[in-house]
Amino acid sequence: CLWVRNLRLKRRLPGPFAWPVVGNAMQLGQMPHITFARLAKKYGNVYQIRLGCSDIVVLNGDRAIRQALIQHSTEFAGRPNFASFQAVSGGKSMTFTNYSKQWKMHRKIAQSTIRAFSSANSQTKKAFEQQIVAEATELVEIFLKLSAQAQYFNPAHELTVAAANVICALCFGKRYGHDDVEFRALLEQVDQFGQTVGAGSLVDVMPWLQSFPNPVRSVFKNFKDLNQEFFGFVQSKIKEHRETFDPEVTRDMSDAIIGVIDKADSDNGLTEGHTEGTVSDLIGAGLDTVSTALHWIILLLAKYPEIQTKLHKLLDKVVGPNRLPSIEDRRSLAYLDAFIYETMRFTSFVPITIPHSTTSDVTVDGLHIPKDTVVFINQWSVNHDTLKWKDPHVFNPSRFLDENDSLDKDITNNVMIFSAGKRRCIGDQIAKVEIFLFFAILLHQCSFEKCPDEDLSLNCSYGLTLKPLDYKIAAKLRGQLLKGQ
Ligand code: HEM
Repeated sequence: CLWVRNLRLKRRLPGPFAWPVVGNAMQLGQMPHITFARLAKKYGNVYQIRLGCSDIVVLNGDRAIRQALIQHSTEFAGRPNFASFQAVSGGKSMTFTNYSKQWKMHRKIAQSTIRAFSSANSQTKKAFEQQIVAEATELVEIFLKLSAQAQYFNPAHELTVAAANVICALCFGKRYGHDDVEFRALLEQVDQFGQTVGAGSLVDVMPWLQSFPNPVRSVFKNFKDLNQEFFGFVQSKIKEHRETFDPEVTRDMSDAIIGVIDKADSDNGLTEGHTEGTVSDLIGAGLDTVSTALHWIILLLAKYPEIQTKLHKLLDKVVGPNRLPSIEDRRSLAYLDAFIYETMRFTSFVPITIPHSTTSDVTVDGLHIPKDTVVFINQWSVNHDTLKWKDPHVFNPSRFLDENDSLDKDITNNVMIFSAGKRRCIGDQIAKVEIFLFFAILLHQCSFEKCPDEDLSLNCSYGLTLKPLDYKIAAKLRGQLLKGQ
């Protein structure tokens, strides 16, 4: 029974004393990943905390996390049946669904759809890249306009719209203006979503709180409402696509998924609702993450002007002033990729993965973890593990370059931001292409300067992604303004 199981779990795993009712909820602090890493120093890399009525195992450090996610990939491939997860995409999300045969099929469909629209052949590759170039060049113009108006401006909204447009164009064949009010509201919902799903959401671990009129309940209600609204947006787009569907012409990812899930006559158990679930997974996941990466990149460029100068010199040498950088330049621009990897490592802006659960009993680091245990995976602790990284608290892109100034793959592989194993992010490749092209084009065209009144702190807001607090920069044109072909 549950009681005996909990007792076994309690006996076998170390961890801090858990208070009655709330457990360790009040000890998590503003930045749970930092608290978790600190607790690991005392209790080891695998320990247990209690949040409300759930025992949760927290995994820390490079070795324990890779052992769990890679060597025991199936055992760690589950998702907990949290109340908030059931509120996502009408319960038809792939991301928030537990491990099963049907989930595997669902994930495969999502994966092959992404591939078909980004890297399947040279034509799709080119189309995907052109989409990004178009967004990046428009972003440059908007940045220059904003800087001309007020010199120092907050780039957050424009970066979010640009990244959102790339994934919306892939999914719906449609992009939105930077001033579109409806789109702005949609982006706001995705932002709030991340704040609830981040580890430590009291709604999930204390479900009984939902039956009381209290702030936690209103957070949950708000979460349900925003999911319904976001899902409603996706449903209306899919409806339009179904009405104009032509099996001979696949216009975008929505058409492709309709073709595979709605129209396919297979017994994989996936129903029409899973089409909307898949599309909203891709939009939700692809929107917040890429824009957060870009927020940090701009902030770090402004914070470290000497590194920015070095990057500019490299772009001038490899690309020159008369054309925009392209994905073909990537090999010669290894220092740009090094800067991106260091941004991902240093900020660890997805500090903890989406919660996992165990699909069967499993042993990690000699410790027994029973089936159906909720597991938090602390990616931040992998990226700041002193056994892997020299001076992990120092921002130093050069750590990723070898003696020939090429990217050292053995070192880049040590960064963990896309997770690993069966739940590894399926958008990692398109995310890397997007981030590289946005970064290269913005930097080729502009120089970024911080506002002298600000010291550009690395403070951030906590959620599924860590976002920098509002900051202001100036963007100055370098050379001539270029357009993509
Ligand atoms: C899952 C990171 C971009 C689609 C995840 C997870 C992380 C992550 C940490 C959770 C893995 C786990 O629970 O262990 C990132 C980062 C991105 C990014 C850092 C950008 C820099 C994207 C993009 C897409 C995408 C562009 C698609 C368009 C997904 C999906 C899942 C996922 C569908 C759920 C996988 C599953 O549950 O099986 N991502 N992601 N991601 N990501 Fe990404």
